Amino acid sequence: MAVVGLLVAAGSGERLGAGAPKAFVPCAGRPLFEWSLDVLSEVCDRVMIAVPPGLDGEGSDRVVGHAARSGSVRAALAAAPEAEQAVVHDAARPLVTAALVERCLAALAGGWDGAVAAARATDTLKETGREDGAVVRTLPRERMWVVQTPQVFRAEALRRALDVDDAALARASDDAALVEAAGGTVRVVEAPADNLKVTTALDLRIAETVLRERGEGGERPC
Ligand code: CTP
Ligand code: MG
Repeated sequence: MAVVGLLVAAGSGERLGAGAPKAFVPCAGRPLFEWSLDVLSEVCDRVMIAVPPGLDGEGSDRVVGHAARSGSVRAALAAAPEAEQAVVHDAARPLVTAALVERCLAALAGGWDGAVAAARATDTLKETGREDGAVVRTLPRERMWVVQTPQVFRAEALRRALDVDDAALARASDDAALVEAAGGTVRVVEAPADNLKVTTALDLRIAETVLRERGEGGERPC
């Protein structure tokens, strides 16, 4: 079974505001994306990386991304026609572990189209319906999950799901939502909340601290 990693690193990093694409900002001594590239490379037969225009010249494993995140996933997948299973991962999540990717792949083997890492919701979640913040309902927290990456898919199901127009790609909040919309079956795989996404400068400081602790022999979560 050909397992291909699709590492999306083509975002601009507006919210981090580091003056460079987020995936290329230094984190604990190396560009942010390299942490998760190492992990995907351990588990996958090949990894394709979607990068911003101009940063694609440095290796045959790089493709130019797209204005929408799922468009970047599609560009990376198109460059790996041999893929039978695809491991989609955000370069912005450097704390991912090989154990977590392997647990998602094992879950996929149960006959699902997709298996996505997710943490149980720990805060109470409320739905609002209007600009003034009026609460419509409080959601049943025990059934709510905060979805992360890795998200692993049967490659054929992902190809079909990504075969939509740019407006649909731009609306998709994750790839699993596109697979669900195409009629695919998706399950969650419980993941540690510390598989955080670097969005702000505070997140980057936290990720650096954890990566340095791991480098000093600290525990790796699964
Ligand atoms: N990404 C991508 N192509 C895009 C948008 C995002 O490959 N058009 C990647 C980012 O590089 C990141 C991941 O998708 O690794 C998650 O996106 P996000 O955290 O939103 O990163 P950015 O889009 O870079 O950040 P921002 O939204 O603050 O600009
Ligand atoms: Mg973004």
